[in-house]
Amino acid sequence: MTIKEKEPYLKIEDLHVHFQGRSQLFRPAKPPVRAVNGINFDIKPGRTFGLVGESGSGKSTVARAILRLLDTKDGRIIVSGDDVTQFNDSEIKNYRKQVQVVFQDPYSSLNPSHIVGEIVGELITEHRGIKAGAERDKIVGDLLEQVGLGRHFLERFPYELSGGQRQRVAIARALSVEPEMIICDEATSALDVSIQSQVINLLEEIQEKTGVAYLFIAHDLAVVKHISHDIGVLYLGYLVESGPSERVYEETAHPYTAMLLAAEPIPDPERQKRRASVRRVYQIDAEPPSPTNLPKGCPFTNRCALVMDICHDEMPGPTPVLAGGTVRCHLHTSGPTLNGKSVVPLLLKTAEENK
Ligand SMILES: Nc1ncnc2c1ncn2[C@@H]1O[C@H](COP(=O)(O)OP(=O)(O)OP(=O)(O)O)[C@@H](O)[C@H]1O
Ligand code: SF4
Ligand SMILES: [Mg+2]
Repeated sequence: MTIKEKEPYLKIEDLHVHFQGRSQLFRPAKPPVRAVNGINFDIKPGRTFGLVGESGSGKSTVARAILRLLDTKDGRIIVSGDDVTQFNDSEIKNYRKQVQVVFQDPYSSLNPSHIVGEIVGELITEHRGIKAGAERDKIVGDLLEQVGLGRHFLERFPYELSGGQRQRVAIARALSVEPEMIICDEATSALDVSIQSQVINLLEEIQEKTGVAYLFIAHDLAVVKHISHDIGVLYLGYLVESGPSERVYEETAHPYTAMLLAAEPIPDPERQKRRASVRRVYQIDAEPPSPTNLPKGCPFTNRCALVMDICHDEMPGPTPVLAGGTVRCHLHTSGPTLNGKSVVPLLLKTAEENK
């Protein structure tokens, strides 16, 4: 079966997650934080979905919902055909063997008082029933070699390792239960650029060998570009654009995605200045609205220079993009067209090329 024909491993359907405001003495309860608002995407086995967005856009909330670390308000999270939002406790325990997570901060995610052999071996005992000893050490040693660390790391403590080595230990731990999917939540964000690319290369090698799927979360589009087959862009809990990686970069369809792309620094100050003036074609410098008080229409209205009247009244629904994926922006249904195609990708591309 080719990858195209494979059923998705993960399918997110109309997912909503709200955090209820606490009730306060003599005061009305705060309105809920609408962290995730009706998002849809899927990940096929052996593929990588890059999820990007600014801080607070809801990326970790999506990850925690998939891991069943929080309750969802609405929607379905289908994994291998089952809706995990309906799982009971024993089903959740079983499910956690399939989906592992690597967090940003290897300093806090690895138990500082345990040696690497114990940190990586723990899940092997919990999920595979192999107790501490020679057999487990052999498996852990193999895993450490697989992530580019030698067997001699077995006896080391986390404080004896560099940031990149700790992240390799976290990856070995995730791999120890032979998962179907690993969620990397800003897993490379704290690392230096050169170490970051080494870890990304390692993740790609592992995917080639094992066929594991990744949900790769980052706030920076440049980081996800290399590793992702598909990309989703979150803005205030809305998936405003998604699609094949190449299409999202080459034919950017949403003004917010263009804004994220333009935020990547250019070392040349002259070009940086030119780019700032070109960006005004589609972008206004303003703070995003609060997730407790989202506007009625598109949540990007106050930062979008291309705003139309309809944008204030209605949230745009997902519209297919000809070259693949979807976009939530009225310009694609009510804006100018050329030969039946929205001119927005052309406009955004021209603006970027003129920088
Ligand atoms: N437990 C919680 N209670 C209330 N609000 C929360 C809770 N967890 C997250 N939020 C809110 O939900 C929104 C999404 O947060 P989330 O952590 O998912 O963002 P993120 O995209 O992962 O950000 P970052 O890039 O900073 O990690 C934010 O407005 C955040 O303040
Ligand atoms: S819907 Fe309107 S405000 Fe929102 S991104 Fe598109 S043009 Fe801009
Ligand atoms: Mg986060």
